[in-house]
Amino acid sequence: MPLVTTTEMFKKAYKGGYAIGAFNINNMETIQGIVEAGVETKSPLILQVSKGARQYANTTYLKKLMEAAVQESNLPIAFHLDHGDSFELCKDCVDNGFTSVMIDASHMPFEENIALTKKVVEYAHDRGVVVEAELGKLAGIEEHVQNDTHQYTDPGEVEEFVSKTGVDSLAIAIGTSHGAYKFKGKAELRFDILEKIEKLLPDFPIVLHGASSVPQKFVDLIDKYGGNVKGAQGVPEELLRKAAAMSVCKINIDSDIRLAVTACIRQHFAEHPEHFDPRQYLSPARTAIKEMVKHKIINVLGSDGKA
Ligand code: G3H
Ligand code: 13P
Ligand code: ZN
Repeated sequence: MPLVTTTEMFKKAYKGGYAIGAFNINNMETIQGIVEAGVETKSPLILQVSKGARQYANTTYLKKLMEAAVQESNLPIAFHLDHGDSFELCKDCVDNGFTSVMIDASHMPFEENIALTKKVVEYAHDRGVVVEAELGKLAGIEEHVQNDTHQYTDPGEVEEFVSKTGVDSLAIAIGTSHGAYKFKGKAELRFDILEKIEKLLPDFPIVLHGASSVPQKFVDLIDKYGGNVKGAQGVPEELLRKAAAMSVCKINIDSDIRLAVTACIRQHFAEHPEHFDPRQYLSPARTAIKEMVKHKIINVLGSDGKA
């Protein structure tokens, strides 16, 4: 099966009341861990690459790893650009085998966000590639822009944005944020905003960024074995399940992968100080990713058995 776009995935997910996991990838072990989880649970997958991942790993390597993932797994897999910050970056991805791109112009004024998103949509659609855009700003760092507070998506803007741009899915701000420190007190999401958007955009796929749940067991392991991620807190799984049952069709997960790898490697080094072959600590890290992703697919996203 070749790489696919997210169109069919999202249609089925919307109807079925589940979401597809969009997992950030940077290297071979991460791709393998995620894809093994997809195979064992028979789940469609979105594998996404940020600008930073392209710089770190080299796009050709990532593309070849994606091809290997598709060939080895025979799963429906979409290859997505995460947080594209310019037309040129999106164009390069469209021209180089990505099946989906995000243009993130959410920090721009509304009309400029529309204009840039529309330009990317026109280029991508002509070449069979789908586009995600964003309205509203997540708190924290987003595409190198620091927002101190949430600027929730204004439901009053979504219909105009979608009809003028022709975009295929929309990322919204309802209280999630990137990274491992999402909430200081009680974790809450603005489901009232999601409900309004769902009524205004029936059958339209919504995307949640910053949706890692920051499993406490990884936080504890990192702290126990010499790290310091005290106070890390993610989006509770029950809130993600609720969003997945609504119009949210894509849930972005990166920090949980980072935490799983770091917890596993820290523990391994502490328990096996004599080890120096990277395979000795990268294989358990890959297994930790697989188990974490399987848990997400089955217990949070609900995409198991949907491939
Ligand atoms: O939303 C951002 C993703 O977590 C990617 O992060 O830009 O450090 O690769 P990155
Ligand atoms: P997390 O930092 O919550 O994993 O979010 C990742 C993300 O939104 C990638 O675009
Ligand atoms: Zn994001």
